[in-house]
Amino acid sequence: MSDSRRVPMGVDPFKPNSARIYNYMLGGKDYYEADREYAERVLLVAPDSKALAQMSRRFLLQGVTRAAEAGIRQFIDVGAGIPISPSVHEVAREIDPSVRVISVDSDPVVHAHATALLSGSSGQTPIWADLRDPDDLIERLRSEALIDFARPVAVLIVGVLHFIMDDEGPAEIIARLRAVMAPGSLLVLTHATSDSDSNFIRQAMSATRGSSAVPALRSSTEIATYLDGFEMLDPGLAPIQDWLDDDSPTTRVEILGCVCTKS
Ligand SMILES: C[S@@+](CC[C@H](N)C(=O)[O-])C[C@H]1O[C@@H](n2cnc3c(N)ncnc32)[C@H](O)[C@@H]1O
Repeated sequence: MSDSRRVPMGVDPFKPNSARIYNYMLGGKDYYEADREYAERVLLVAPDSKALAQMSRRFLLQGVTRAAEAGIRQFIDVGAGIPISPSVHEVAREIDPSVRVISVDSDPVVHAHATALLSGSSGQTPIWADLRDPDDLIERLRSEALIDFARPVAVLIVGVLHFIMDDEGPAEIIARLRAVMAPGSLLVLTHATSDSDSNFIRQAMSATRGSSAVPALRSSTEIATYLDGFEMLDPGLAPIQDWLDDDSPTTRVEILGCVCTKS
C-alpha cells in the first residue's frame, strides 16, 4: 500500500499502527513502510511473532468453520482487524451464503481501512465500537438490527482479550456477552498466557513497550474463570497448536485457544 492516493481518510501512513503491523505478520498487503520497519524490529527479538499470528488466524478460521457447520448464521467478530483473505466472512459464506458478519474494532485506523476495503461487500458490516463497553456494543447491535440475539450467534474474540486490562473487567465483559447469547451460540476465544517462557516475555514486552499493543498476559487458571457458564469443546482451553491439525511449531509465547458453547 505504498501508493499515497490509496491512503484512506483519517489514516497516517507514517505512524506505525498495531493492526497494520499484525497485517504484515499475517502476510497481508495493508501496511506501510513505517509498519514494516516496526514489525521487523519486533521480529528481531520475538521471531515467533509471525508464526503465532498465522496460527492464531488459522485457529480463528477453524472456529468459524465449526460455527457455520453447526448452523450459526450470524457472527460478531470482535477486534476484527484489517480485512484479510481468507476472511471470516469468506470462510463462513462458503458454507452458507446467507451468513452475516459484523466486524467490530475500536481502532479508528482499522475502521477507516475496513470501510474502504469492504464498501459494497454484502453480508459484512464493519462497526467502530469498543469491547470494553459491552453494553454499548450490544445496544448498537440490537438497535441497528445487526444481530438477532434470540438466535444463536458466534462471538469471535481472537487476539483481543489480552488487550483488556484487569481494571477494565475482562471477566465481566465475557459474562455480559454470555448473558445475551442464545442457547446454541458459540464463543471462539484466544488469550496469550503468562505460562510462557519468561525470558521471551521480557524481550517481547520490551519490543512493544510504548505501543498501543502491550498485552496483559494471564495464567490459564485465570483465563478459565472467564469462561464460567460455557461448555468447552475438546481439547478445551489449550495452546492453539493443539487445536490445529498438523505439526504446528511450538512457540516461546503460548496462546491459548478455546471454543465454547452456551447451552
Ligand atoms: C491482533 S489483532 C487480531 C485481529 C483478528 N481478530 C485476527 O485474529 O486476525 C487485534 C485487534 O483487536 C483490536 N482491539 C484491541 N482492543 C480492542 C477493544 N477494546 N475493542 C475492540 N477491538 C479492539 C485492535 O484494534 C486490533 O485490530
